[in-house]
Amino acid sequence: MKPFYATTPIYYVNDLPHIGHIYTTVVTDTATRYHRLIGEKTRFLTGTDEHGQNIEKAAAAQGMTPIALADSVVARYHDLWKKFEISNDDFIRTTEKRHRTGVEALISRIEKAGDLYTARHEGWYCGSCEAFYTEKELDEEKRCPVHGTPCVWESEENVFFRLSKYAAPLLEHYEKHPEFVRPEARRSEMMSFMRGGLSDLSVSRSKVKWGIPFPGRPGQVVYVWLDALTNYVTALGFGSEDDRLYREFWDNPEGRRVHLIGKDILRFHAVYWPAFLLSAGLPLPTTVWAHGWWLRDEKKMSKSIGNVVRPDGLVAEFGADALRYFLLREMTFGQDAHFSDEAFLGRFNADLANDLGNTVSRVAALLRQSFGGTPPEACDSNEILSALSAAGSEWRAAMENLAFNRALEAVWRFLTQINGYVVAREPWKVRKEEGRSTRLSRILYAAAEGVRLSAVMLFPFMPVTSRKIFVTLGLPGEDPGPGDLDWGRLPTGTPTPESGPLFPRADKSAYFESTTGFSAKAEDAPMDKQTGSGKDVTAPVETTQAVSPSDSRIGIEEFQRVRLVTGRVLTAERVPKSKRLVRMEVDLGAERRQIVAGIAARYEPETLVGRNVVIVANLKPATLMGVESNGMVLAATVGEAGEPSLLEVAADVPPGSRVK
Ligand code: MSP
Repeated sequence: MKPFYATTPIYYVNDLPHIGHIYTTVVTDTATRYHRLIGEKTRFLTGTDEHGQNIEKAAAAQGMTPIALADSVVARYHDLWKKFEISNDDFIRTTEKRHRTGVEALISRIEKAGDLYTARHEGWYCGSCEAFYTEKELDEEKRCPVHGTPCVWESEENVFFRLSKYAAPLLEHYEKHPEFVRPEARRSEMMSFMRGGLSDLSVSRSKVKWGIPFPGRPGQVVYVWLDALTNYVTALGFGSEDDRLYREFWDNPEGRRVHLIGKDILRFHAVYWPAFLLSAGLPLPTTVWAHGWWLRDEKKMSKSIGNVVRPDGLVAEFGADALRYFLLREMTFGQDAHFSDEAFLGRFNADLANDLGNTVSRVAALLRQSFGGTPPEACDSNEILSALSAAGSEWRAAMENLAFNRALEAVWRFLTQINGYVVAREPWKVRKEEGRSTRLSRILYAAAEGVRLSAVMLFPFMPVTSRKIFVTLGLPGEDPGPGDLDWGRLPTGTPTPESGPLFPRADKSAYFESTTGFSAKAEDAPMDKQTGSGKDVTAPVETTQAVSPSDSRIGIEEFQRVRLVTGRVLTAERVPKSKRLVRMEVDLGAERRQIVAGIAARYEPETLVGRNVVIVANLKPATLMGVESNGMVLAATVGEAGEPSLLEVAADVPPGSRVK
């Protein structure tokens, strides 16, 4: 049996998870669940990328140590992956000892191959990518092709990796293994990049402190990408005494090693990583699969642009399965897709509430009304069996190729056929005319078995929903295995429970209220509520816990968790179409923040520029009228109307000073 090893990228801990991160993880989870379901030996890895300059800076800006920042974001990831039923076998953090040991072992092999040397390094550097770019990759203003922000000229003494030596061997590998990079367009892109020749790569930094010390090169830390990419083998025990998993899932000619990534990080995975592995004499991944971006307003969703969709509200209202379904159904793997609230709601009502939910409810109701459970007699319906065989082979082929939307389409077609079968056989009439006849039993068995098999095929996509369907059919709510894909597994004569709808229809206004965490009258909400408005799907509003009057005091530690700092307003403008909201760029000393506040009724935006205000700096981001706010400006609320009056500090207090 060929082992199947799938990985997600490891996520930076300077950002909270959003739909983009969730997508890669859900896709990998679905692929792994499929391979597990068909009886293969699988392993699924995800984790966090915790070293480097960006994390160092983000932590400093929040007055935290990098590891404390990482710990808090990792807790968020664990929480979220649990909600999404992500079935990873391991979660690697690059700050773990086992990772460091593995990185050192890999570097020592690269060193032995003679592929490292020290030299002065100069070039155009994008801090957000933590990568250098060549002149020809940048525009006239030297802006990063991914972030659109200006790159800076950097010059330092570094350790270099002889990447140039690997262009030819890599191209040869690409030629021999057409499946090495997918989709095909991405493979061609990487091949033409390498045909232009590769420059040696700087793999250490002397200016960054937060990282793994470079073995044998005092004063240098390992370049964050060399550090991060190695996670795929360190998590398997590479370089440690117990490397059984490494031998089973990586150093195994039979095994498949698949990296699922976003197209933004393709070069790192399809060129640098295999070059490191070639140098170290280790096997390469079988396939690097790059997916497209989730876009919002034509742009990649990203924290730096501030147009991200955070999942909390959607999950609380509709369940993680609905979001998993939407992400997998709406995006053609490999291409970009737009996230829109209308599309989400449309799919929820049409596909989930109507097609899936109603088919399940209809069949379940027929079973209960006719037999109080599953029918007493099994049957091999030719009609349903041939529909199943077509759907099943399409589903398998699509799953093997990560064409999730096609796999779902196949299941949906099958559901329509089951519905058609029920409508044509009119079991309600048969019951009236013949009572609990063999004919009735056989019709309903075929329909119910079809529903069960649809639920098995849906299991990799929506595990919670599948289990619920099994329970509705009188089965235990357990994860299905390979045998469950065979016809005839539905037992006869088993009682079935009463069950509610799988996905109750959502109406539009309830949708926007629940996902934004506030009513449509958000404009009237007090300014200190970090709420959203309009069509944005945002992080939920943090609610304060109710406390009894005598118990409302807090300890100093609790107060100290609120990070208050001074900030100087650099720019201010009204948020379009809003009466109360002002968007400000605020200087917090070590960083600039975009903050939105409901103060336009009292302050003209121009009068705000230059003011020294007090900011809650460690508030979770919230989206207000489509604009992300990263912090809150403090103000007193005056009079009945609660008019805001900004808290200000003397002009000579530098931005970023802690208020306590
Ligand atoms: N830490 C690196 C990866 C190192 S892997 C050895 C990194 N981290 S990240 O947190 O910035 O992003 C990780 C991945 O999240 C992206 O490659 C991509 O898979 C996913 N996405 C982030 N934003 C996205 C969208 N807007 N759309 C789809 N996926 C995107 O890069």
